[in-house]
Amino acid sequence: MMLACRKMLCLAVILSVWTGTNPVEAATSEQKNVLLILTDDFRAEAGVYGSSDVNTPNMDSFAAESLQFNQAYTQIPKCGPERASLLTSRNPTTTNYYYHSSGRAEIKTVKTGLSLPKYFESQDYLTIGSSKIFHFEITNNRYFQRFRWQPVHINETCLNSPALFCEADGESQCPDRLSIDYGKNQLEWIKDNLNGDPFFMAIGIRRPHIRYEVPSSICTREMVDTAVSSVPVPNTLPLDIPEIAQRKVCTPISESSEVTEAGSKYGTSNSSAPYGINLEMEPEVTNIIRNRYFCAVNYIDGLIGELLDKLKELGFENNTIVAITSDHGFSLGESQQWCKMSLFEPAARVPLWIKDPSYSSLYGTTHNQPVELVDLMPTLADLAGVPMSSEKLNSAGMDGRSFAYILRGESQPDEDGLEVLSGAPSKGGFSFSYPLGAAAFTISQRCEEAGCESVKNTKFEAMGYSVRTENYRYTEWREWKRKGLSGDFSKGGLIGAELYDYSDAGEATNLYATNSSHEQALLLSGYLRAHFRDCGKTDTGKLIKKRSLCKSQGTHCVYYKKRCHFKGDCGSIGKASSKTCESYAHCQWKNSSCVVKASELLFA
Ligand SMILES: *[C@@H]1O[C@H](CO)[C@@H](O)[C@H](O)[C@H]1NC(C)=O
Ligand SMILES: *[C@@H]1O[C@H](CO)[C@@H](O)[C@H](O)[C@H]1NC(C)=O
Ligand SMILES: *[C@@H]1O[C@H](CO)[C@@H](O)[C@H](O)[C@H]1NC(C)=O
Ligand SMILES: *[C@@H]1O[C@H](CO)[C@@H](O)[C@H](O)[C@H]1NC(C)=O
Ligand SMILES: *[C@@H]1O[C@H](CO)[C@@H](O)[C@H](O)[C@H]1NC(C)=O
Repeated sequence: MMLACRKMLCLAVILSVWTGTNPVEAATSEQKNVLLILTDDFRAEAGVYGSSDVNTPNMDSFAAESLQFNQAYTQIPKCGPERASLLTSRNPTTTNYYYHSSGRAEIKTVKTGLSLPKYFESQDYLTIGSSKIFHFEITNNRYFQRFRWQPVHINETCLNSPALFCEADGESQCPDRLSIDYGKNQLEWIKDNLNGDPFFMAIGIRRPHIRYEVPSSICTREMVDTAVSSVPVPNTLPLDIPEIAQRKVCTPISESSEVTEAGSKYGTSNSSAPYGINLEMEPEVTNIIRNRYFCAVNYIDGLIGELLDKLKELGFENNTIVAITSDHGFSLGESQQWCKMSLFEPAARVPLWIKDPSYSSLYGTTHNQPVELVDLMPTLADLAGVPMSSEKLNSAGMDGRSFAYILRGESQPDEDGLEVLSGAPSKGGFSFSYPLGAAAFTISQRCEEAGCESVKNTKFEAMGYSVRTENYRYTEWREWKRKGLSGDFSKGGLIGAELYDYSDAGEATNLYATNSSHEQALLLSGYLRAHFRDCGKTDTGKLIKKRSLCKSQGTHCVYYKKRCHFKGDCGSIGKASSKTCESYAHCQWKNSSCVVKASELLFA
């Protein structure tokens, strides 16, 4: 579809020339403002997402005036890498940025692409940001025209306390209060000074990231200690889960005073197996942690409501695109996971609402097919009236594609339901072939060190590659090649695999363990290869020129013109004519283009 979109963009440009309108003027009058509200570790936990544990009247009413995405996914459930991905529209496997190290490393990563704020700046938008947008302050300062970093914690006491919960007397020092107030003030300034010129504003919200710092007006310690929340479902380890998929608990949780106190009440005397490390916590303890998170959600709901109200009050509601989302989710006991950095649904899925005042007929409806955060940048640009040209997408090595068609209520510009990108492979050399608009990809690394929090990619043990379709999630854990810094997709490189059917037992049962030739596992392993595996290069990044080497890459690769191509890439290898196309057994000539045969996607 990326190709089709690019064609459409070209068409739009040609039309505006034909009708004789000045393209610059036309573009300006069409341009809308953009407000992006980016939360942190916020899973799809709101009333409108079916949660009865939180009280989110503002998000719920925003959902009634926007399109809600029920299957939006992060590309990597870790703050810094996901933000670098979202804000440059490149997959983590393209940025090769998987862990936070330093602001300098983050800048280096972002610099090699085109960032969301810099793109809007190039379109004559004023760009304004607050709090955590990129992970590091220094990166934000560099990429926004105006930026206000906000404190990370209320104060040192909250930061250094072993407690997950820090109840604030007042709100004046709460990072998210400061961020929202900055946004409100900036909107007022814009109203008075910007003379209708467009703006791009990104407001970062720190909660519900640990620690749960919340004013006592929202909830008190007594409330978060005693309220009864719903029991996580499922709260057992998935049946037949491979060892590598089992995530150890995030240290801020396992080392919190809440858990150590529970340890002295419920734990054993075995200090090598402290309470909580196996995450089979009693319902009372589970409640205590979940309540803290839910309370932080209630808090940010009110703040978000204030900012949205201000936008309306100042008369921006009909010319501003508003998007609310999060970098990734967080598991709160489901499948015995208490963290992010896993490939389970609560960590991979994010809330996403997008409001485009031009398409109000879709307000209050939901989109139930997978979408990816990596596509948000071209989508926002497209909706705002400054779509990214194909040259821009290509030269910046962007992996994303606009899904604005969903908001416009148009069907996907894709004839076969199976789209193959032809032409030059993207920067990482990958070729794509899977039903676009129906699959979302997420990765997560594994290290010897349990947390794998700041372990360099030269020290990874494995990488989990996961794809989510409407009903299934399929994950392959692959040995990490420390030389080539990529997963080993050869037969021997498979450490474990998982298949979950959400129309049935969901994450309670790993279907792959009992049936590795399950039809869905075969199909989805083809998607993973199409998305992540580079036929053109060896694992050490060398161009493959020999037929024998190409063959050893796997059955999903094909040798042609002294190069190794991904089989799905019929569009480039057989574009000349129907004859060239059909000289490849896996390709077929259809409607003047060469496309892969669907049956060829089963790379058993
Ligand atoms: C830090 O914040 C907590 C929670 O609001 C408060 O009780 C405490 O007095 C504050 N400490 C300082 C030194 O300001
Ligand atoms: C203590 O826990 C460790 C880690 O789970 C386990 O290997 C060991 O056998 C346990 N020791 C006893 C005495 O239960
Ligand atoms: C925005 O559009 C809605 C619906 O057409 C209308 O009720 C409202 O008054 C408009 N607001 C402004 C500020 O123009
Ligand atoms: C495994 O899945 C395949 C395809 O879905 C099916 O034909 C086969 O019967 C299954 N085998 C078992 C043992 O369940
Ligand atoms: C063939 O492609 C053209 C141009 O892309 C399109 O307009 C037409 O609908 C396609 N026909 C079929 C049968 O898919």
